Amino acid sequence: MSDPAPHHRASDAILALRHDFASATLAEGDVHPDPAHQLDAWLADALASQVNEPNAMTLATATADGRPSARVMLVRGIDHDAAVRFFTNYESRKGRELEANPFAAGLFFWSELERQVRIEGSIERLPDADNDAYFATRPLASRLGAWASPQSQPIASRAVLDAREADAQARFGADPPRPPHWGGFRLVPTRVELWQGRPSRLHDRLVYTRGPSGWTIGRLAP
Ligand SMILES: Cc1cc2nc3c(=O)[nH]c(=O)nc-3n(C[C@H](O)[C@H](O)[C@H](O)COP(=O)(O)O)c2cc1C
Repeated sequence: MSDPAPHHRASDAILALRHDFASATLAEGDVHPDPAHQLDAWLADALASQVNEPNAMTLATATADGRPSARVMLVRGIDHDAAVRFFTNYESRKGRELEANPFAAGLFFWSELERQVRIEGSIERLPDADNDAYFATRPLASRLGAWASPQSQPIASRAVLDAREADAQARFGADPPRPPHWGGFRLVPTRVELWQGRPSRLHDRLVYTRGPSGWTIGRLAP
């Protein structure tokens, strides 16, 4: 028999994958009434269990006419209103989409914990003072990289990128300022859903919804 085409190898195998989720449960009484505390608690669990990239969140944005795109961001903080903070290039594809359509969804999947978190809400730019403060904590190579990379733009070659990095180094040395096009956003949720895998696909799903008098918690069918 001839070797199947590469694109058949995975697609046949994934049909047969079956994993029953059984490590934990999630009840209304287990969660904090404030999703900011709950997000913090689940992030702490992810950190403690040493999963890879515990703060990696898939961020979905959409164009003004509703065409979605998604990519991974590293979350750098959780605010009192349960907003998650991330940093990027304001002129990148996501930056432009968030400017034109300031709503987004964030998703954490901690496979080892059998947990998913979905965060939906509106987007705000962080103040310059916060951007400067966080930029200053980044390693030098990352600070220079923020100057070197016109994120999401086509570039002719790797060599062009390396040359831009060398230029940034020559220009700024050991103390690059924050580029005006680089900074953070807050995703301010109106909805936060916690998902805990359970056997037989009867998973636990608890959802926080923000109303005029604060957060309420409900349960959704899996
Ligand atoms: C684990 C991981 C973490 C990432 N963290 C960030 C981040 O914090 N900020 C960022 O701008 N890009 C980050 N990226 C790269 C983005 O996923 C994406 O490629 C880039 O921001 C360009 O996206 P855009 O063209 O949609 O704007 C990360 C990628 C991975 C896989």
